[in-house]
Amino acid sequence: MSYPGMTDLKLKEQTIFERSRPGREGFSLPEEDLSSAEKLLPENFKRKELDLPELSEIDVVRHYTRLSTYNFSIDHGFYPLGSCTMKYNPKINEKMARMSGFANLHPEAPEDTAQGTLKMMYEMQNMLSEIGGFAATTLNPSAGAHGEYVGLGIIRSYFDKIGDTKRKKIIIPDSAHGTNPASCTLNGFEVVLLESNEKGKVCVDCLKSMLNDEIAGIMLTNPNTLGVFESDIIEITKAVHDAGALVYGDGANMNAILGVARPGDMGIDVLHYNLHKTFSTPHGGGGPGAGPVGVCEKLVDFLPDPLVVKDGDKYAFRNLPDSMGRVRAFYGNMGVTLRAFVYLLEYGRDHIAEIAENAVLNANYIKACLKDIYHLKYKSDTLHEVVFDDSNLENGVTTMDLAKALIDRGFHPPTVYFPLIVPGAIMIEPTETESKETLDSFIEAMRNIYETAKSDPQNILKAPLNTAVSRPDETLAARKPVLTYCKEGD
Ligand SMILES: Cc1ncc(COP(=O)(O)O)c(C=O)c1O
Repeated sequence: MSYPGMTDLKLKEQTIFERSRPGREGFSLPEEDLSSAEKLLPENFKRKELDLPELSEIDVVRHYTRLSTYNFSIDHGFYPLGSCTMKYNPKINEKMARMSGFANLHPEAPEDTAQGTLKMMYEMQNMLSEIGGFAATTLNPSAGAHGEYVGLGIIRSYFDKIGDTKRKKIIIPDSAHGTNPASCTLNGFEVVLLESNEKGKVCVDCLKSMLNDEIAGIMLTNPNTLGVFESDIIEITKAVHDAGALVYGDGANMNAILGVARPGDMGIDVLHYNLHKTFSTPHGGGGPGAGPVGVCEKLVDFLPDPLVVKDGDKYAFRNLPDSMGRVRAFYGNMGVTLRAFVYLLEYGRDHIAEIAENAVLNANYIKACLKDIYHLKYKSDTLHEVVFDDSNLENGVTTMDLAKALIDRGFHPPTVYFPLIVPGAIMIEPTETESKETLDSFIEAMRNIYETAKSDPQNILKAPLNTAVSRPDETLAARKPVLTYCKEGD
């Protein structure tokens, strides 16, 4: 028997509508307040029925508190979701982003009254330019994918401006994130796929053979989604430039090289950062995010409007001569930018490289402790993440089962089945914010799952056993989400 107060996660939490009881209240309002307003409303605008749940305050508090325990977050436990850089978000970032001068500023406020925020944006633009080795950076894009869309828009605008309109194709390695081809298509480019070689890297000779006067550029993630650094990057960018094309860098993996190496110095012309990954601002579930885009000198004029500039001792918005246009309302997700700004100031110029150094160390520690049992398709050295696969797991246990079994052991699963070039991929990215004790407990859980798959496979095949919901139909949930409550029969 289960009772509502028990922390038995198997107990189905009723919806707030099902918990409703007629006449129960969780508020008190002054009695006459609404009557005059109500009289002013024409009859035909008044709702006859409003089916709101009726609950006491304690019912509501307990309902939502219980629901929150069904969730998993970076504040709850280890979250090694590869390619997502789920690092701890320091609370000082939150505090600063909530300062009323920033948080309550109206986006239409005159520039003179918004000098503090403009200064922060200007300095953030400059810090990101310096980190990436770029001439300028826009803070406008709202996510990594939006940054990609903007970066490719800049490339398109550049070729339009110089009248080289034949260039309609972008080369993308087969290890790339799915948003890369989508961003190309949305910009009217055709995608040409480049196969990775046996080391999991770009085959430079294959790339060279693909370059011609129809190629606008290449989209490269470095280190790539296997965590492997494209060590031929200088030869790659030179070959692309010699062919008259441009190099787009997907900066989602900046955590591997932050403060150690600069994409701009490698010949990358345009790159997006994921502030919500590399620069420690919360993310998940589709947002919020920020995907600033840095560009080399010859692309500055094509950046989206507006850029923040310094005019004497004043900060102001400035539109650019050949801008690709506006890409969103106002100026980017300021709360996210501000959190990332605080994070950078906390580290400071002298310590920023420690982020990448420790992220790489942590990922390689996990790799070294698990590679005797988990299979690695690509044996190349890796930086901030490691991609195992499920081919050593026995008794039909798959990557998906392993992911579910990790939930039972108190960990968020790694990224699964990505990158696509590794069948059954298990992509682990611990980030720099985790202690050796946390890494050791995760390694122990991974080893335990490997052994349990041999001795008691049902335990893994039926996992998770300790959660409110076990294995929902994820495809159905994604394709036909039920997001509003309907009474049975409605
Ligand atoms: C390599 C890579 N590129 C691009 C993206 C897209 O970034 P966002 O989720 O911020 O749109 C991701 C997201 O996971 C990624 O891993």
